[in-house]
Amino acid sequence: MAYFKILVMSIGSSFLLSACDNQIQEAEPVSSVTGLKDIYADYFPIGASLSPANLSGKDSSLIVTEFNSVTAENVMKPSPIQPEQNQFNWGPADAMVNFVEENGLKMRGHTLCWHNQVGDWMFENEEGGEVDKQTLLRRLKEHIQAVVGRYQDHIYAWDVVNEVIADEGEAWYRDSRWYQITGEEFIAKAFEYAHEADSNATLFYNDYNATNPDKMEKIVKMLTQLKEEGVPIHGMGLQGHWSIYYPSEAQLRTALETYKELGLEIQITELDISVYPGESGGRREKSADELDTFTEEMEQQQIAQYKMIFKVLRDYRDVITGVTFWNVSDAHSWLDNFPVKGRKNYPLLFDQNRERKKAYEAVIDF
Ligand code: G3I
Repeated sequence: MAYFKILVMSIGSSFLLSACDNQIQEAEPVSSVTGLKDIYADYFPIGASLSPANLSGKDSSLIVTEFNSVTAENVMKPSPIQPEQNQFNWGPADAMVNFVEENGLKMRGHTLCWHNQVGDWMFENEEGGEVDKQTLLRRLKEHIQAVVGRYQDHIYAWDVVNEVIADEGEAWYRDSRWYQITGEEFIAKAFEYAHEADSNATLFYNDYNATNPDKMEKIVKMLTQLKEEGVPIHGMGLQGHWSIYYPSEAQLRTALETYKELGLEIQITELDISVYPGESGGRREKSADELDTFTEEMEQQQIAQYKMIFKVLRDYRDVITGVTFWNVSDAHSWLDNFPVKGRKNYPLLFDQNRERKKAYEAVIDF
């Protein structure tokens, strides 16, 4: 199977010709019928996060060829979609949903409750002071009802709560405004509100560094507690902002095994493989020669890392229900500006010209 697929892919964007009634007819370009989504059809949906700019031009055809699931990179987050109380900016999110419907794609929702990209209004009362717990939970409920309700026929899964676990030290939870005002109560409530708004949606907790043993322990403790309390949570989203240096195969297998034991489904929700070491795929200092060089060494390491990761993910196809890349091609990645502003990164399977990279071939070679 793999050999045949690679053969087909290697034809690239050339056209297949077929003989019919003694006439040579032009058939569909191979690249429009065979992409990652097709090669992984027996495993899990393959997605990408999109910005409004991706919905037209070269990106849109690449997306439809390669992916069968999408996530909004920003436009469904709290402040982009509700910048002020009861003032909703539905346009960009609606456009993405229309694109999804027109092209027969699946869509994940991202995200309902986060410490980042949420308007200050959420936490403030009319006098500019801090709202009380009941008011904040009511606003959270109203936000979730509005957003989940509007898209309930189009979105099959939501990242309900995003990144609430503390990264380092003793603290269990991130010291966010949500946490300061409600304690940990907002977490269970967010899932309950989402379930009330759409009882068919699959509800995820989503976080980064979720293969890191210390953080994983805290995440597991929270998920276990939520399950014991009967909170409607169905999945664990490992963001997958990884690099050519981590995670190791053993770390990844341990993490998948650990989350699997909780009886949750698993998705990789924001996959990219940075070519730099360090926190979230980058080191703080930069050197000039790193700015726009994708070296042969980086490329080889990235090929090996992508190959290893997809091999492991295929092994866990019984619990993995989706793998989504964060951004579409190396033409634009959020990692171009994080953690070092303006340092080019090359974390995806398509290069800056939207061509398939060698890492792509490694991912489909099985
Ligand atoms: O929309 C404004 C625009 O009006 C303004 O002109 C422009 C000026 O800089 O900023 C625009 O907002 C930016 C937004 O992306 C949309 O492009 C924000 O500054 C920028 O901070 C924001 O970055 C996003 C980041 O989340 C915010 O934390 C990234 O695009 C997005 O990829 C990233 O995604 C997160 C996931 O949601 C959660 N997991 C981590 C992941 C990476 O940080």
